[in-house]
This record gives sequence, structure tokens and C-alpha cells, in this order.
Amino acid sequence: MQQHAFGRREIEIAEQEMPGIMALRKRASDDKPLKNAKIVGCTHVNAQTAVLIETLAALGASVRWAACNIYSTQNEVAAALAESGFSVFAWRGETEEDFWWCIDKCVNAENWQPNMILDDGGDATHLMLKKYPAMFKLIKGIVEESVTGVHRLYQLSKSGKLTVPAMNVHDSVIKTKFDNFYSCKESIIDSLKRSTDIMFSGKQVALCGYGEVGKGCSQALKALGCIVYVTEIDPICALQASTDGFRVVKLNEVIRNVDIVITTTGNKSVVTREHMEKMKNGCIVCNMGHSNTEIDVKDLRTPDLTWEKVRSQVDHIIFPDGKRIVLLAEGRLVNLSCSSVPSFCASITSATQALALIELYNAQPGRYKCDVYLLSRKMDEYVAILHLPTFDAHLTELSDEQAKYMGLSKTGPFKPNYYRY
Ligand SMILES: NC(=O)c1ccc[n+]([C@@H]2O[C@H](COP(=O)([O-])OP(=O)(O)OC[C@H]3O[C@@H](n4cnc5c(N)ncnc54)[C@H](O)[C@@H]3O)[C@@H](O)[C@H]2O)c1
Repeated sequence: MQQHAFGRREIEIAEQEMPGIMALRKRASDDKPLKNAKIVGCTHVNAQTAVLIETLAALGASVRWAACNIYSTQNEVAAALAESGFSVFAWRGETEEDFWWCIDKCVNAENWQPNMILDDGGDATHLMLKKYPAMFKLIKGIVEESVTGVHRLYQLSKSGKLTVPAMNVHDSVIKTKFDNFYSCKESIIDSLKRSTDIMFSGKQVALCGYGEVGKGCSQALKALGCIVYVTEIDPICALQASTDGFRVVKLNEVIRNVDIVITTTGNKSVVTREHMEKMKNGCIVCNMGHSNTEIDVKDLRTPDLTWEKVRSQVDHIIFPDGKRIVLLAEGRLVNLSCSSVPSFCASITSATQALALIELYNAQPGRYKCDVYLLSRKMDEYVAILHLPTFDAHLTELSDEQAKYMGLSKTGPFKPNYYRY
């Protein structure tokens, strides 16, 4: 089978498990709420993203796409999208130089002025702002998915350099709960199994960060019989980890004994060369958090260490005394590099992204200032509604008296913005 035909099949499989975004496609394709939108997309290029891309096109947008991660592209899917006429600049195993070339190609096209950005990590936004400031001025809105991209946007806003409204999808309740928690809960196991064939029972794991991703990973690992240690900087998350039954430690306290180290912090240099020096033979090191910043991989590229590629995405780093540590995906997101993520969670994120694009693109002038916004709670609820039929879930309706008693509209939103789910 040709690569694009294989990719098309992958997209069709993803569609089956992405009911929300498919429902949105069906509901909104007559109205074309993204008519004339020209969207630069920079996200993982996989079957699930393809379902989003084809939905945006069905809603009237023209799109150009690049990958936000050099290892996560499904080449066959990129081929299928190209075969269907989409401009996609991505392949698995891009170099750093290729990566920026692809984003540049995606942004800078003849006779095509983008007016929206859909970013995951802030790289397309960064490139356009720095290299094509005139083009950036004509952007109507940015939708950003990652914690780091969102952080950059808030910094831009603070320094007065953000000249367009932006939507922080990362912190939408519906996205955070599902993409960060449930998706990582399932995919951490999958990615470790596929890359190392490890048996989890009885293994000691150091998990850095107990946010949504950390909570999901720790639950899954504990369920399989791992002994999980958590590191945290935030006392609230540390207390949550403790009351969930995990020992909260400094990484140095356990680093010599653990079998697996997983980072989930969104931070940088969480696992340093010094930590890796202390790890025991065979310790697996991987990142579920941000990009490639959490593990100091560059500090392992020194003449005294030998790198041995044992499988795709699996490197043994051999120390002078013969000790090996097992580095997965060169410190990039292990689940996106070594396994797949649940399409259902991707459906929730994609539907949220699509609604954020529709909202910013169609907003009346003045509705949004040049600042970073969260999607309204009503839209979060709408994304959930799109997905409930899959489970044949039947919502209870408020009676008039109940709605009055609670001070709610019968059609939502059902919770105030400060509610923590
Ligand atoms: N792999 C994936 O598929 C996937 C999915 C969603 C999000 N993410 C990424 O995972 C990261 C975490 O997301 P989240 O929603 O859990 O964020 P979060 O903010 O809820 O959790 C991160 C936690 O790490 C803690 N932390 C920060 N620095 C630390 C350090 N040096 N040592 C120990 N703990 C530290 C923070 O206090 C916080 O509790 C983000 O970068 C996010 O973009 C990855």
C-alpha cells in the first residue's frame, strides 16, 4: 500500500474515536464559521491532528501546517494530507534546522497571508513575531495549546508586545483534565512498554511534578504495582501527592535506587547530568512534560560518554565505568515519540482548539483586547456535550425551582470560573 493510502486509513481510524470533533464538523460545516480564515498550524502532525485539520477545512478555513516536535510526525499521515491538497511541512526525525525551515515554509507562502495561528509550544508565533513582524500584525488571533507557549504569550502581553488576542487552550478545564490527565495516564504505560518491554510491578519510579500529567502518570504506574516517589516544588501539589499515598522526596534522595525517572514539570533542567551520574545501571529516563528542556540531554553529549542507539527512540548512554542509562526519545515527549495518545482525548483538545479559533475569528472588534484569554466555561461545557453521546450519558436537567435555588441558567454554565473540577 502506498504511504498516503496507509495514512488515510490511520485518519479514518482516528475519526472513529474522535466523536466530538466529528460532531462539530457535521454541525458547523453548513455555516462555515471559518470561511476565509487562513490558519498557520504548528502542532504534532499525527492522525488525530489530521482530523482537526480536515475539520477546519470543512468549516471554511485554508490551512498550512508544520510539526511542533521533530519526532512525533506520522509520515504516512503527512503524506495523506498532502495527497488531499493540504500544505504540510513535517516528517519524523527532522533536524533542528529542518524544524525551523518547516515552520518558516508554513508561515511564509506566496499570496497567502495568514490571519490565525494555532500553536503548540509557541514556535510559529515566535518565528512570525521575530521574522515577519508585518505579517504578525495582520493576525486576528492565536490559539495556544501548551503550558510553555501560554507562558510566552503572557510574557509578551506583560511587556506590551502582544498585538493580537490569544486564547489559552492549555488551561481550559476540559483540555487540562483530559489531555493532560487521562491521556498521559494511558500513554505513559504504552510508551514505556513499547520502547523497553519493562515489567512495571515492583519497579521504583521517581516522578518529577505532581500536576495534571504527574497525577495521571502516578496513578497508572501505581495501579501496575510500581513504587512511586514524587518530587514537587509546590506545597499544595506535594500535599496532594502525600495524601494520595506517594512519598514526596527530593530527587537526590532516591536517584541512586530508582528504576525509572519521569519528568512532568513543564520546567527546565529537572534531571541534570549530576543526577544521571548517580543513577543505577539500567535506569530509564524519560520526559512527559515540556519539549526537550526537562532533562539536560545536551550535557550527556560529552566525549567521556558513549551513545548507543539500541532501538528507534531508545539510546543507551554508557558511562566510563560501564554503567548504562536508558534515555528515551532523547528527552522529548516520550508518549508522543514512542507510542500513540488516545484519540478520544485528542478529540476533546481538537474540539476546544476549533471552538477557540471560531470564537477569535468571529469576535466583534473590541470584544477581545491584545491579551491572553481563557475559553468561556460555556464552551468547555459544549465540548463535553459533544462527547457525552459516546458513553450514552444522560444529563439530569435542572427543574425551574432548582435553577432558581442555585442561581443558574438551566442551559449552563453550571459552575463559576473559579470552580476546580
Ligand atoms: N506528554 C503529553 O502528552 C502532555 C500532555 C499535556 C501536557 N503536557 C506537558 O506536561 C507539562 C506539565 O503539564 P501539567 O498540566 O501537569 O502542568 P502542571 O502545572 O499542572 O504541573 C506541573 C507540576 O510540576 C511542578 N514543578 C515545576 N518545577 C518543578 C521542579 N523543578 N521539580 C518538581 N516539580 C516541579 C509544578 O509545581 C506543578 O505542580 C507541561 O509542559 C505540559 O505542556 C504533556
